[in-house]
Amino acid sequence: MEEAGKILVELCFGTTCFVMGASKLQEIESIIPPQYRKRVEVKAHTCLDLCKNATYMKAPFVKVDGEIISEATVEKVLKAIESKVNG
Ligand code: FES
Repeated sequence: MEEAGKILVELCFGTTCFVMGASKLQEIESIIPPQYRKRVEVKAHTCLDLCKNATYMKAPFVKVDGEIISEATVEKVLKAIESKVNG
């Protein structure tokens, strides 16, 4: 059953994001600290439609609860999760 108030982490593994380093983000699910894991739902996308309008942002893209993270790294995504969990 889906819990309310989960933080949705959307990873993009489309071509643009993947060549720009999204492959490294695959490990994120296993890296999420145990105390956050229950609060987080990870979804993979084939394109978040952000690369097409990437004039001011760079791939790879990740969305954390709708918030766009560009040039996403494992560290950036974990930080975003952390700040969402802690309100
Ligand atoms: S390939 Fe990632 S946003 Fe399009």
